[in-house]
Amino acid sequence: MVRVVAVDPLRPDPAAIREAAELMAEGKLVAFPTETVYGLGARGLRAEDVARVFAAKGRPSTHPLILHVSSEDMAKSLAREWSERAARLAAAFWPGPLTLVVPKRAHVPGEATAGLDTVAVRAPSHAVALALIDAVGEPIAAPSANAHTHVSPTTAAHVVASLGDRIDLVLDAGACPRGIESTVVTVATEPPRVLRPGALDYDDLASVVPDVVFQAATAAEGEARASPGLASKHYAPRAKLAVVASGDVESALARSPRAGLVAWTSKAADAAPPGTPVVRLPADAAGYARGLYAALHELEAQRVDAIVVEDVPDDRAWWAVRDRLARAKG
Ligand code: TXA
Ligand code: MG
Repeated sequence: MVRVVAVDPLRPDPAAIREAAELMAEGKLVAFPTETVYGLGARGLRAEDVARVFAAKGRPSTHPLILHVSSEDMAKSLAREWSERAARLAAAFWPGPLTLVVPKRAHVPGEATAGLDTVAVRAPSHAVALALIDAVGEPIAAPSANAHTHVSPTTAAHVVASLGDRIDLVLDAGACPRGIESTVVTVATEPPRVLRPGALDYDDLASVVPDVVFQAATAAEGEARASPGLASKHYAPRAKLAVVASGDVESALARSPRAGLVAWTSKAADAAPPGTPVVRLPADAAGYARGLYAALHELEAQRVDAIVVEDVPDDRAWWAVRDRLARAKG
């Protein structure tokens, strides 16, 4: 069974970080916290280590990974070109929840990039992630630490539930502060394009690169080739999920013998019959995003057969949440 080691999220114990880095140096798989979600880490420049990540997740080899770095210089060491735009975005948002897709150098293995000529790089802001990258001394390839197509983990318990028998160590620093994945932007094209909405807001992004292009989730099928993580039917709980207007919550719940509810207004929460498993999330986009995956994990743990989600505001601040809900529908 996987070993779970508790670490302080702000000042991680160097001995725990050293143990994790030593395991990774043996080619073992270590799950670790980032500010977005938990990642499943392996040394990113070694094809055989990267292959173990794909095997553990059951992830198709056509879905490229993000290489996590601890500095812009480390990112540049992976990039064939580091454009003025890349530099501007890194200066504004790193370390933080922004992933940049850039032309890759030849030594970045095709196994990590699904054979693409580009590589995704991100400098996370979580102290545990940064300490681990520095201890390993090279970029860490890390997808979200969940089985393929399943809901991303925002706690160590979620990681253990999804991958516990397939990995070697989990560094447990509690719940991830952002709770939703990084925003992925390609700067390998003109103009730069959002490939996945995420924890970094559109407005913040556009304040630094005003010509950035974003097409909403519903238009994403064609994008799937450019960013396979955008393929629909990603981020899905095992129970069937439906997103309904606040006024339709009661009738939607009545359709299944054991439905659970994710609500953010009292109107919807109050519409649930007594005994219904209900998770009430905050009414602000960041608070909601922080709790969304945990809510889905929680309802699954309660063995609901359907999940009814109260629709969220159609507002740009909610872009990442709306995207994930669209992809979680069964
Ligand atoms: O917040 C996050 O990004 C988390 C934490 C662990 O850092 N990681 C994460 O990794 O969400 P993953 O593998 O679940 O998602 C990676 C995303 C996918 O949408 C993938 O298609 C995209 O990044 N991606 C990676 N390399 C790419 C490339 N060369 N071109 C286009 N998209 C790429
Ligand atoms: Mg993922």
